[in-house]
Amino acid sequence: MMGNGATGATGATGGTTPLQGGNPGWAGERGEFTQLSEADVRGSEYVGRRPANGGVGGAVSSMPYMLPEKDPNAPLFEGPYAERLQKILARYPDRQGALHPVLNMAEELHGHLTPQALSRVAEVLGLAPAYVRGMATFYTMYNRAPVGRYFVQVCTNVACNLCGGDAVLQAFLAETGTEPGETTPDGLFTVMEVECLGACGFPTAVQVNSRYFENVEPGDVPEIVRQLRAGEKSTDAGDGGAN
Ligand code: FES
Repeated sequence: MMGNGATGATGATGGTTPLQGGNPGWAGERGEFTQLSEADVRGSEYVGRRPANGGVGGAVSSMPYMLPEKDPNAPLFEGPYAERLQKILARYPDRQGALHPVLNMAEELHGHLTPQALSRVAEVLGLAPAYVRGMATFYTMYNRAPVGRYFVQVCTNVACNLCGGDAVLQAFLAETGTEPGETTPDGLFTVMEVECLGACGFPTAVQVNSRYFENVEPGDVPEIVRQLRAGEKSTDAGDGGAN
């Protein structure tokens, strides 16, 4: 834990990527929690790259967005991913229980869940393909089509809606020149409207890849998008620090 609000991932230090500082939407950067850094609140590993073997079992399970290195045709459950599959299976009493983490792994590898991946998951787990497809289509957190390099999810549920969530959504759509769910021609942005992100105390909440932006107002949006675009140009790995 870091105890000094002047350090860590806040904008005060001028992060090298848009998702590591300069977050105009994070409450801590508005002086509301001056004694805490963002890393104090969320831990320092929440923006880490998930290792192929999955790392700690309790870590964030999925990176549900398309990155340049995602390969929708990559073989599933081979090499380190075969080991990770075994780790997942060992945590559940039956294979049905392992379905979500296995779907997460497939999405992490491919960037989205293809019909072929769903069939392969069903085969590996010994489940009916219709059951697997039903789970993947019921939960909207799974992407069944590619999304952009930056997957922007804007909450328009009650708390955020009362605080202008619809306007924030419209601002992101206008700034990126897209319709909901559409990806920009350069592959950078997909903006989606989502239900509660679990950050109701900090409306409007916006999730960009694995990073939360909180207390976002329409006027903040151009700067957020500008930072993301700038980070895309400046980061050699193109990971924006958020995967
Ligand atoms: S209503 Fe927006 S995060 Fe809960």
